[in-house]
Amino acid sequence: MPTTRAPAKDMTDPAGPAGRSAVRTLLRLWPYVRPVRVRLFTAAFVAIVASCVGLVIPLVLKWMVDGPVADRDPAGVWLGALYLLLLGVAEALLFGLRRWMVARPLSHVEAEMRAELYRHLQRLPVAFHDRWASGQLLSRATTDLMLLRMFLAFPLTFLLVNGVTIIVGVVIMLVQDWTLGLVILGPAVPVMITCIVFEKRYAEVARLAQDQVGDLTTVVEESVLGIRIIKGFGRHRTQARAFHGLSRTLRGTELRKAGLLATIWGVIVTLPEVAIGAALVLGTVRVADGQLSAGTLVAFLSTALALRWPVDSIGFLLAMSQEAATATERYFEVMDAEPESDRSAAGPGEPRPAEGDGLRFHHVGFRYPDAPADSPPVLEDIDLHIRPGESMALVGATGSGKTTLTALVPRLHEVTSGRITLDGQDITALPRAELRSLVAVAFEEPTLFSASVGENVLMGADGTAGAAELDRALDVAQAGFVRQLPQGTATQVGEQGLSLSGGQRQRLALARAVVGRPRFLVLDDPLSALDVHTEAAVEAALRRVLADTTALIVAHRPSTVLLADRVALLSGGRITAVGTHHELLSSNAEYAHLMSGEQEDAS
Ligand SMILES: Nc1ncnc2c1ncn2[C@@H]1O[C@H](COP(=O)(O)OP(=O)(O)O)[C@@H](O)[C@H]1O
Ligand SMILES: [Mg+2]
Repeated sequence: MPTTRAPAKDMTDPAGPAGRSAVRTLLRLWPYVRPVRVRLFTAAFVAIVASCVGLVIPLVLKWMVDGPVADRDPAGVWLGALYLLLLGVAEALLFGLRRWMVARPLSHVEAEMRAELYRHLQRLPVAFHDRWASGQLLSRATTDLMLLRMFLAFPLTFLLVNGVTIIVGVVIMLVQDWTLGLVILGPAVPVMITCIVFEKRYAEVARLAQDQVGDLTTVVEESVLGIRIIKGFGRHRTQARAFHGLSRTLRGTELRKAGLLATIWGVIVTLPEVAIGAALVLGTVRVADGQLSAGTLVAFLSTALALRWPVDSIGFLLAMSQEAATATERYFEVMDAEPESDRSAAGPGEPRPAEGDGLRFHHVGFRYPDAPADSPPVLEDIDLHIRPGESMALVGATGSGKTTLTALVPRLHEVTSGRITLDGQDITALPRAELRSLVAVAFEEPTLFSASVGENVLMGADGTAGAAELDRALDVAQAGFVRQLPQGTATQVGEQGLSLSGGQRQRLALARAVVGRPRFLVLDDPLSALDVHTEAAVEAALRRVLADTTALIVAHRPSTVLLADRVALLSGGRITAVGTHHELLSSNAEYAHLMSGEQEDAS
């Protein structure tokens, strides 16, 4: 369990935020948006209509000022007021309708994208998860997707709606009066330039902030999972300092975002305001000169004021779009990672095994994908044959590569050279699902899920295994203790449930491995946390199971080793000796040394 903060391992973006186009990135969302496109377009259309209804209001004002007001006709004024009221109500209703139209489909889009991300995460190879900090994945599945939903609901529509509104409004103003219209249009160019500059800068900072949220999530997650260690070692201060450091950095980034937003807002709000002021002065002069009707000036200015919100909002709509583009980018960084493939390595001429051939390693070499290129491989030229029904113990010093070797059989990692065969068939030629139903595994670090004991164990079998199989597996693993649990095998365990001891969890993991009566069993030191008596009982029961199972068992204690028919010694990444326990004990000094050390431990 990592107690100190591991840096977010993979957040490199080869193109860099500056090198991508926000629009092109956002276009990748189309497949997810497609199913709701009709709704979305209709809603946008409704919003455009609503916005344009708002623009009719100044025209009614003009009619009122130049007509009934000038003629002192109270009935006409009342009629005008009624029109205004109706237009206002219509505008509000249409905007409400738009909201109602998009809310449900967009939560659907978000849920769909999240489900797809989860599915993809399950299919990504272990090597991917080794590289990525879990907080980075978590933040992508939560914050980033929320940003995307908000983008689809709001900025996407309103960039369009406000754009159309501004164009229609400007046309109305130009039609009212050319000169005043050009005065209002004056700031357009500087505003656009500011927007472009702003977008670039904001993209970089937004990406930084979202990555930092991922880092922060990682720290929180590790602190929660490692809470015992943190408390036990009195590390809460250091941990809190790490957290504070990160959240200060994040705050700094957020402040930079706010600063950029403030700048663009300053420009976007001030320049048009100045233009409106200038138009007001010029317009008043021309009304006084009799070149312009009062109604036209009223209409012109109220149109200009009606456009203030669409123009002002562009700053933060662009900001939200940038964040959405970043979120999309982060989402697809995960989605683009290559999942485990079922490419068939074996040619069509692969000889089918006549009968069982057991588990064979043919000149297997392995190097972790993220290992430095000049480091020696973890495993080299491993040649090992475990005969059908035989159980082979794998012994080696810590770090010699035992866990790595066992992980190669169910293809949690792919061999870098050589091949592994099950009954003569290359494991890369088997569909993964089939391979993993043939091979059952139990690891030293047993993982239980938030589910009942029974569900956790039966996970090791296809859906057909029932209560009888469960009982048998629990007996083999000497996990009778579960019957004393408050609700027996229905007791909830895992993070949300009852805490079990290390040995208890190991026994459940072992039960999970044997419940499906697998042809091949791979156990990575599955008894390390058991006391000697329990271990002996598990072994006796395992021996019956192992009678017709081909098994590779990583072991430390002589008692576990004795369970196996033969022993292989792993040293320096190679198999240096194979034989029975007693043969190796008398002929191999390293083996004798490993066993003697362990004997003292076990007693
Ligand atoms: N995911 C990984 N990425 C890179 N190196 C690893 C990884 N896991 C283990 N190693 C390295 O591989 C070597 C063998 O590890 P391991 O198979 O766990 O040994 P053992 O189980 O025999 O103690 C160690 O040097 C370890 O540091
Ligand atoms: Mg190990």
